[in-house]
Amino acid sequence: MGREIHSVAVIGGGTMGSGIAAAAAAAGWRVLLLERDREATRRARERTLAQARDADEQQAIDRLLVTGTLDESLREIGEFDWICEAIVEDLDAKRALFSRIEPWRREGSVVSTNTSGIPLRAITEGLPDRLGRDIVVTHFFNPVRVMKLLEIVPGNDTDPAVVASLSRFCGDVLGKGVVQAKDTVNFIANRIGCFWMLSGLHHAHRFRNQGIGIERADALLSAPLGLPATGLYGLIDLIGLDVMALVGRNLAANLPEGDAGLAFTRFPAEEAGLLARGQLGRKSGGGFYRVLKGADGQKSREVFDLETQLWRPHAPASLAPHQTDAAGLLFADDPDGAFAWAVHGGTLLYAADLLPAIADDIVNVDRALRWGFGWKRGPFETLDDLGPTRVIARLRAEGRPLPALLRLLEQTGGESFYRDQGRTHLGLDGRYHTVEA
Ligand code: NAI
Repeated sequence: MGREIHSVAVIGGGTMGSGIAAAAAAAGWRVLLLERDREATRRARERTLAQARDADEQQAIDRLLVTGTLDESLREIGEFDWICEAIVEDLDAKRALFSRIEPWRREGSVVSTNTSGIPLRAITEGLPDRLGRDIVVTHFFNPVRVMKLLEIVPGNDTDPAVVASLSRFCGDVLGKGVVQAKDTVNFIANRIGCFWMLSGLHHAHRFRNQGIGIERADALLSAPLGLPATGLYGLIDLIGLDVMALVGRNLAANLPEGDAGLAFTRFPAEEAGLLARGQLGRKSGGGFYRVLKGADGQKSREVFDLETQLWRPHAPASLAPHQTDAAGLLFADDPDGAFAWAVHGGTLLYAADLLPAIADDIVNVDRALRWGFGWKRGPFETLDDLGPTRVIARLRAEGRPLPALLRLLEQTGGESFYRDQGRTHLGLDGRYHTVEA
């Protein structure tokens, strides 16, 4: 069956839907955007036009974008190749919408649901078999026009041609870095990235009395490890403590039994306090950091001292020469090294224990963290940089079990997850396979 995509119908023009609609129209494709009522439709159109990168793009979007309400224009989706649902994160609302869509959708069209955490099987259960064959989850990252990562998650019954054509369209036309994930809680990037953040808060809490305050933690958990300059606290300020609390609750409810992430789903006391008094991050005017503008117009940065519970001037942390690269920092026998090893090393080991549950290969995992969280090197690439044999020796010395992928590497006698300058990777069958573009 031909599954080529030449037009897109987006349903729900909020943060994500407007970004997807803008990206598709800006790339020159016909876009239909449907909303609940006329007022919501007007706002969705405005939001979509506002995402143009320049005046030319805005004109292109204006020309190619048709908007309407579900009640008046639903039948028009029969003309479109990709039906992309991006309404609220509510299972019943999504299911009700799909039953409305099914009769109007043409044979061969592909369907996607944008969700951060609802299992695909819960959405399609009891709906026509055709939907189960034609649908995937598309997990775009916010803001859609900026973030490279798109996780595509097929269900048990999804036709592989649907995954192939959506991956092609989103990769070639929308410029996304497409990763194939499995239908498990938080998919790939957020499963590992949120473990890093939530476990990071707990380890930082433990190490605070060893001289690792907010600035030092962020200096360690950024450039030396090839991570974005926001570090740990800066990143959580950006996301918001309220969102992180929701993520933690969702993980507590849905992580499989025995998962290492279950130890970190609740905040340490200090962060729980910040959340309770609405000190959420950038959106509330400050979280761990805040920027103040003086009477003279000069900006100054402050840090919320978690020990004294008071704001104070930001004092940048300076790092020692050995702390400028991952191996130097993580293998150092000092509190900084122990802290960074607990957070980042712990996350690498967590990732190395999640296959095949969350992905079919390590390449998808490395790309997800690079494209979704801005890591310069994904977890397995970082393990290669550190030297897997050295990591294994350390775990043995610490009396800790080896995660599944390090066990596999050891059994196969390999010394690295990637070989041939990154052109081949260790597969779950213990053999090395070509890294597909
Ligand atoms: P949003 O609240 O900004 O937008 C939802 C839009 O859908 C609104 O414009 C609303 O009028 C419309 N809508 C709501 N119920 C509807 C219905 N029954 N029929 C038609 N339209 C309806 O939400 P957002 O942030 O765009 O999220 C959309 C989906 O994408 C959610 O499932 C969310 O979990 C997921 N997502 C969101 C991310 C984010 O950072 N905002 C990141 C990744 C996924």
